Amino acid sequence: MSARARIVGWMALVVALALGVSVFSTWQILLSRLDNRVNQELSNEAEKFKKYADSAVQSVDELLQGYLSVNVPDGYETLFTILDGEVHHLTFAEPLAYLHTNRALITELAAATKPTSSEVHSSEGIVRYAVLPVRGDNQRGALVVAVFYDHLKKDVVDAVRALSVTALVALVLAGLVGWLVAGQVLAPIRLVRQTAEHISDSSDLTRRLNVQGNDDVAALARTFNHMLNRLERAFATQRDFVNDAGHELRTPLTVVRGHLELMGDDPADRAETIALVIDELGRMNRIVDDLLTLAKAEQPGFLSTEDVELADLTVSVLAKVRTLGPRTWRVDEVADTRIWADRQRLTQALMQLVANAVRHTSPGDLIAVGSAVRQVKNEAARDGSTVPMVELWVRDSGPGVAPEDRERIFGRFVRVGSRKHEGAGLGLAIVKSIAEAHGGWVRVEENKGGGALFVITLMHREVETPSEGGSATTDRTGPLLFSDRDSTQEVV
Ligand SMILES: Nc1ncnc2c1ncn2[C@@H]1O[C@H](COP(=O)(O)OP(=O)(O)O)[C@@H](O)[C@H]1O
Ligand SMILES: [Mg+2]
Repeated sequence: MSARARIVGWMALVVALALGVSVFSTWQILLSRLDNRVNQELSNEAEKFKKYADSAVQSVDELLQGYLSVNVPDGYETLFTILDGEVHHLTFAEPLAYLHTNRALITELAAATKPTSSEVHSSEGIVRYAVLPVRGDNQRGALVVAVFYDHLKKDVVDAVRALSVTALVALVLAGLVGWLVAGQVLAPIRLVRQTAEHISDSSDLTRRLNVQGNDDVAALARTFNHMLNRLERAFATQRDFVNDAGHELRTPLTVVRGHLELMGDDPADRAETIALVIDELGRMNRIVDDLLTLAKAEQPGFLSTEDVELADLTVSVLAKVRTLGPRTWRVDEVADTRIWADRQRLTQALMQLVANAVRHTSPGDLIAVGSAVRQVKNEAARDGSTVPMVELWVRDSGPGVAPEDRERIFGRFVRVGSRKHEGAGLGLAIVKSIAEAHGGWVRVEENKGGGALFVITLMHREVETPSEGGSATTDRTGPLLFSDRDSTQEVV
């Protein structure tokens, strides 16, 4: 069942129930009022008759005749009198039905000794009556007041029938209006659905919904468009990435193929070609590894986090890279704190930065690594407050990075300057994904005295160590650390 039919169905059910209850209770109220009115009328007549009888001293015959001559019955009422067991007088007004011809009824009425009221069936339906007996010296008579109850009830039935018809018309109208309104409200949702269907059928991500108004449906459409924007961007990025990767891998493949095709029979020539091919294959291997790392970085579970001692990490990176070349190696500073991070990935990022630094420097140049906890302005708070952040850096005394390249060198397959080295331009992209996977970022600036300074900034997600004497590790972070600055350690 469609949403529209469901909405209208429920609405019609509720409206029908409400109308049904109101018609039924109107019927009940009108009926009970009618009963009251008839009873009231009969007892009024009795009252009036009693007063009349009390006011005049005359024979029963004269009393009954006199009363009838001064009392004209209402529309649905009739009066007649009984004297000594026989019908005596009728009113002038023609009754709706002749009750006095009913012998059995007259005999019963004539026998009444005290005022009573009851009802009887006639050709005009139910008749409610009251019999008011009078007794004289030697005469017995009675006044009979009859109300044609079913005639009065007919008015009630007519009124309730009219009400029911109106209610039915209202129900149909409400259903129609509900159907139209539901259609109008649901139309944009249908449009969203159709667009979504179209997109999944045709893979056309450029389509957008036309957003109108400011209601929930417009918000849904906007969210949907927003999602499409992101999807389109993600697909475009992925396509470019695959394109770039393809191009990048084609170069070594062409080189390998060319060399193999031209390879002669000379053993020396062969050995040279094989060395070259192996070298190219190694380069391809590294590119594929880097691509895999970047692909993994986009998936959850990229990091396997643990308790990392920053001082240890900083020093161990330097120990590993010292073999990369004869440089002036230095540890600037070490942060005496522990963070919750992926030790392997952080080491990989720092090694990548150091490898770049080695590539851009000459023997004897300075390459330094360091780590510290720094107070960084809290952008979210806007009150100038600061938050402690961990910084890991690598700096060198090479040529540095030109200001216009400082953003873009972190992109994939971006290389700047001469292409004499073998990198594919993925190194800094990997560093960036590792920083971002940790909720941090990486930037490059100019090193004091020339050269490049690459800084990875991470949230200071500290590891709570079992405190000795109640002092938590938090106490050891912050400005206190800067006292370490003087203890610069030089390793050559
Ligand atoms: N320490 C550095 N000094 C100067 N330029 C650098 C340094 N590190 C990286 N770069 C520049 O950034 C570019 C991108 O680096 P990277 O992503 O590691 O790719 P690759 O090393 O394969 O060229 C490099 O081509 C280089 O021009
Ligand atoms: Mg590199």
